[in-house]
Amino acid sequence: MFQETPFNELPMETLGTPAVGPMASVRTTEAMAPAGGAPSAVPAISQRDRWFARARAVMPWGVSSNFRYWGEQETKVIARGKGAYVWDVDGKRYIDYRLGFGPVILGHAYDAVNQAVFEAMQDGNVFAMTNVYEVCAAERLCRMTGADKVRFTNSGTESTMHALRIARAYTGRERFIKFEGCYHGGHDHVMWSTPSAPLGALGSRRSPIPVPSSSGIPSALRDKVIPLPFNDFEMLERTVRDHGHEVAAILVEPIMGNMASLMPAKGWLEFIRRLCDEHGIVMIFDEVKTGFRIAPGGAQQFFGVRADLVTYAKAMGNGFPIGAIAGREEVMMTIEPGAVGQGGTYCGNVVSVAACEATLRVLETEPVFEVINQRGMKLMSGFHEILSRYGIPHVITGVPAMFGVILGDADKPTPRDYRSALKYADEELSFRIVRGLHQRGILPDIDYQEPWFLCYALSDADVAETLTAYEEAVREALR
Ligand SMILES: Cc1ncc(COP(=O)(O)O)c(C=O)c1O
Repeated sequence: MFQETPFNELPMETLGTPAVGPMASVRTTEAMAPAGGAPSAVPAISQRDRWFARARAVMPWGVSSNFRYWGEQETKVIARGKGAYVWDVDGKRYIDYRLGFGPVILGHAYDAVNQAVFEAMQDGNVFAMTNVYEVCAAERLCRMTGADKVRFTNSGTESTMHALRIARAYTGRERFIKFEGCYHGGHDHVMWSTPSAPLGALGSRRSPIPVPSSSGIPSALRDKVIPLPFNDFEMLERTVRDHGHEVAAILVEPIMGNMASLMPAKGWLEFIRRLCDEHGIVMIFDEVKTGFRIAPGGAQQFFGVRADLVTYAKAMGNGFPIGAIAGREEVMMTIEPGAVGQGGTYCGNVVSVAACEATLRVLETEPVFEVINQRGMKLMSGFHEILSRYGIPHVITGVPAMFGVILGDADKPTPRDYRSALKYADEELSFRIVRGLHQRGILPDIDYQEPWFLCYALSDADVAETLTAYEEAVREALR
């Protein structure tokens, strides 16, 4: 159980750096408060404000990842999680539909996973040599996904970074195709035309402009990426016909897990497969969100389409930091000591691979997907019924384990790619409803582009509580 370091016992240097912005005064007030809680003229501040001020003082924006910054008032500080719930530092319980942006497929602090990790770590963690735990995890992963070979990484970002390098080394080509609104991690090669790109910056649909997602990305990489609209058969065919000889890979999220779980149009993934075969391009499925979440064999199994390389992370470790690149023998064996690099000090570390093996074991032996599907269907149809009753145009997309809710404008075409989703969406109304849900202890992401994620620990009672809160939040948002 977490034990707090008393604030006024922190080393002086921790307190020495002034906090930035409005929080500076909060922290000073707290640090100078008289011991014993004597009455003071200063209004009481919540535990959240106190912790966020401490976080803000030592971490840029008070977070370890930009996506977690929801603003000065909205950014949450969590004390612990168990099963389908998290508790914030003020003791408020939430039913968690973010699940760490998707990894927690079984539930927080899941006993079988924790137990396996605890036992394995008694044997040490990092050896920089092949260890028995990673062999077991690799065997199970290959069996479940049908991959010939796998290499472990520590995150989704590492997985896509190395997968792209493997594809480039395999083909001897440098450019790659990605789709607008897909996110593939934080490295410079893929941070183009992601879900943060403003509609006005994307250029014409017929000749999309690569939009960097951040300052600091070398412009020299712009020419290496070809962004295209998802689900646009004609544009993809034309681009591959004209540039296929320069294209190493088509990198695609099979379901747009970073754009409200928009689904592939019928035949879209098969079409990519055919073009890759015809033009000697490596097909990479980025299954960092779909892998071990939508089916035991992920999107490859769900859609019946096999990629050459697949990137995994998130659900494969139920929240422990791990990723993987898996795929076809010939492509994976491009990795070669001294010739094509892939590696890292913590790749295959015992804690992560033990967590992975234990998570995959539960996924293989218990009815995880059936349970999640059944509860997710109830939520999807319940939201649809409520939104219809209140006359709110909407689209519910994706699959029960990770579905999106886009509220919008009935006169606009149904979203099928990033551009049409941005045009359709009513962000303001979505935000009002989400804020009402947070107040009622239901925790989807603040951004409608992020899907609702479900875990195995979510109960029927949780689903019922969520539907009741959803109706109340909708009613309130319309007032
Ligand atoms: C599809 C996809 N690929 C890659 C990543 C990057 O994964 P990580 O945050 O583990 O680096 C993400 C993260 O959300 C993702 O959704």
